Amino acid sequence: MANPRILNKVLESKIMPVEEVVGMIPNGATLGMSGFTGAGYPKALPVALAKRALDEKLRGKPFRVRVLTGASTGPEQDTVMSMTEAQSFRFPYQGDAAAREKINNGVIEYQDMHLSHVGSLVRYGYYGKIDFAVIEVTKINADGSLIYSSSVGGNNVYLEHAEKIILEVNSWQDERLEGMHDNFSVEPKHGERVPIPIMRTDDRVGSPYQKIDLSKVVAIIETNDPDRNAAFKAPEDVHKKIAGHILDFLDGEVKAGRLPKSLTPLQSGVGNIANAVLVGLNEGHFENMTSYTEVIQDGMLDLLDSGKLRVASATAFSVSPEGQIRFNKNIDRYRKQIILRPQEISNHPEVIRRLGCIAMNGFVEADIYGHVNSTHIAGKGIENGIGGSGDFARNSAYTIFMSPATAKDGKISAIVPFATHIDHTEHDVHGIVTEYGFADLRMRSPKEKAKEVIEKCAAPEYRPLLWDYMKRAMKNPSAGVHSPHMFSEAFGFHTNYLATGDMRKKPGK
Ligand code: COA
Repeated sequence: MANPRILNKVLESKIMPVEEVVGMIPNGATLGMSGFTGAGYPKALPVALAKRALDEKLRGKPFRVRVLTGASTGPEQDTVMSMTEAQSFRFPYQGDAAAREKINNGVIEYQDMHLSHVGSLVRYGYYGKIDFAVIEVTKINADGSLIYSSSVGGNNVYLEHAEKIILEVNSWQDERLEGMHDNFSVEPKHGERVPIPIMRTDDRVGSPYQKIDLSKVVAIIETNDPDRNAAFKAPEDVHKKIAGHILDFLDGEVKAGRLPKSLTPLQSGVGNIANAVLVGLNEGHFENMTSYTEVIQDGMLDLLDSGKLRVASATAFSVSPEGQIRFNKNIDRYRKQIILRPQEISNHPEVIRRLGCIAMNGFVEADIYGHVNSTHIAGKGIENGIGGSGDFARNSAYTIFMSPATAKDGKISAIVPFATHIDHTEHDVHGIVTEYGFADLRMRSPKEKAKEVIEKCAAPEYRPLLWDYMKRAMKNPSAGVHSPHMFSEAFGFHTNYLATGDMRKKPGK
């Protein structure tokens, strides 16, 4: 029986079982896949590629492909393709435990990249020829144009640039997503770009449909599989306190006349803390807010439901299974409030700067001078990646980073003398928040920032250790005066942790 989601006759004739399609992919191929934060990624071909990698391995033959995506994907892609070592290279973001382990063991090469840069880098050929775009869609129209599914991400770029196209038409995705996407690509060439005409969060500037070169389509795979996003942890006391400090800070900005009562467009990062802040905003008193962000999380749906948020622009959903049910139930209302754009637009510096966004993202560690590490544990192993945090951090009107003050039962301090990997420099960071307080780093010199960060953000048991370092550095002639640092001790917290399992304990003590 004909698939009512595939209305184009030529493309309908290309429907094939996935077992046949996987045979088209040569060893070493580069694939540009859809997928962003567990939404809209291909569900069938990645599993088939993983199986094939195992089969070929048993026959003593290598089978590995290079995988470029929008951002993180789901277990059918990152988990199984990492466990079976079917992916040799991964770009530009991941958030998967199996992928993380293989990356940190050197089995997968990973390039962690600003998400707004992906389009230009791919178009300029830095990743070579993209052999196949593998894109999940909700529906194919009679004219062959596509209705994307629950994410847009880098789809436009991979579809434009790839030599061949494989589409997965997923009947699980709600057909009523039609009309939610706003497809608008950046001009490919540097020097030929024109302004992006988004003046307000809810401006639509493109088409709900994606046109493609139909002659490039080599296969269509039919699927009926859910996006697999994890549930969020219910906000804990620590998260609620962090949210409270951010709300107080924003209140102060409204009172000072620097922000309207509806605030400027909110950007909220990935993870439990970011979601908890949205929950806090829903309980706060700001009204008529908007969001120009990357992902729509459960907390964002809460804000839309309560009417506190008027509109949200993003590139993908990152909702829990429970959030998905709520989303499908209210999709007709959400379609008027939610716009999904390509990541080169949702994260574009021009638009973020114009709108004056309020960026709120999680961090792994921050140092006393305000440099922020979002990605690396003890400077070496990667956790997830920079994602869009850099796009928003550099260009927003307010750049706030948030984390509990400690991790791993207090053995790790999130506030350290010197961050072991710096994703966001002190020049980008306006505020650092933990459950203890909000360090306002605006208008402060490095030494003034250090006082603010230690006093407001560090856990009480780490404050004396940070002050001890800071005071000795200030007296040490070789440590410098502007941003004093003693290189022999700057990573003392980390070397303690590696030696004793606790940043507070020196080896042998
Ligand atoms: N050292 C060691 N581990 C640390 C740590 C540190 N300094 N800080 C956090 N962690 C661990 C936590 O213990 C936790 O581990 P677990 O899953 O084993 O419990 C994990 O990192 C996640 O931390 P959590 O406190 O639950 O916060 P989160 O879910 O909000 O994630 C980041 C925090 C930093 C990992 C996350 O925000 C991130 O990946 N950011 C970078 C990308 C980004 O900002 N994207 C937004 C773009 S718009």
